[in-house]
Amino acid sequence: MLLKDKVAVIYGAGGGIGGAVARAFASEGARVFPTGPRLASVEVVAKDIVAAGGSADAAEVDALDEEALERHLQSVIDRAGRVDISFNAVGIPTAEMLGVSLIDLDVEQFSLPLATYATSYFLTARLAARRMVPNRSGVIMTVTSLHSRTGIPSVGGYGPAMAAKEALTRDLSAELAPQGVRVVGLRPQGMPGTRTIKEGFEPRAKASGMTWEQWQEMLASKTHPRRLMTLEEMANMAVFMASDKASGMTGTTVNLTMGSLDD
Ligand SMILES: NC(=O)c1ccc[n+]([C@@H]2O[C@H](COP(=O)([O-])OP(=O)(O)OC[C@H]3O[C@@H](n4cnc5c(N)ncnc54)[C@H](OP(=O)(O)O)[C@@H]3O)[C@@H](O)[C@H]2O)c1
Repeated sequence: MLLKDKVAVIYGAGGGIGGAVARAFASEGARVFPTGPRLASVEVVAKDIVAAGGSADAAEVDALDEEALERHLQSVIDRAGRVDISFNAVGIPTAEMLGVSLIDLDVEQFSLPLATYATSYFLTARLAARRMVPNRSGVIMTVTSLHSRTGIPSVGGYGPAMAAKEALTRDLSAELAPQGVRVVGLRPQGMPGTRTIKEGFEPRAKASGMTWEQWQEMLASKTHPRRLMTLEEMANMAVFMASDKASGMTGTTVNLTMGSLDD
């Protein structure tokens, strides 16, 4: 087991990516603490993990509320003794910001993803780092998308927000890696079965004239294997990057776009 007895806190664990990562971490032996703004969605994930023989404690935590984050992380330390992995998989609804050209976008809509994604990642990373540095051990992780590195129309502040998170991964690593803490990101292409990919399609459906199936085929056609990555494949990579086997990886975002985005 790659993560045996590791203590992992996952933010946004009720979502597609956070839920898949929590399940994968637990199946590799981690004790996981799935959190999200609505207890009901994270409890579903925790119950699945426990039913499969794993260890999970769900909690309602808003990953933009510093006091709530601090209280929860302290409760994890009180129960488990330490935190080894912090994974920020927070995602906000995009319906209102996608499909609008930048010249027509209002400033609140532009600023929302920038403030939400970068701030939440900063808060969760900083609080985890304060616990990890004294142990000279730990891994801080998050997820971004190919919007960080390529121009895509009508996505508002989402691309700049993803770029900001990737910059923060590098800067956190530059400060924390000398103190034994790795910082790594994952950058998947759209994955079928997640609400994010559906939300990306809906505002463009009318203008593009594509059906839902044609939209997924169009995305898949941009990858080298001509298919989209599954949540399971992404979660397997998250497990590896969180594990001690990836001790040589820090300050970087792993390109999981399967060729859609050249390095
Ligand atoms: N899915 C993909 O194909 C894909 C590909 C590349 C990148 N990404 C990016 O990866 C991230 C996660 O994507 P996803 O598909 O897993 O999205 P998702 O299914 O919508 O999940 C996002 C999760 O974040 C939670 N959340 C929202 N606000 C929060 C807050 N303030 N504090 C804590 N949690 C909060 C949501 O809670 P509720 O459940 O309570 O609403 C939800 O569970 C997003 O940034 C997305 O853009 C996704």
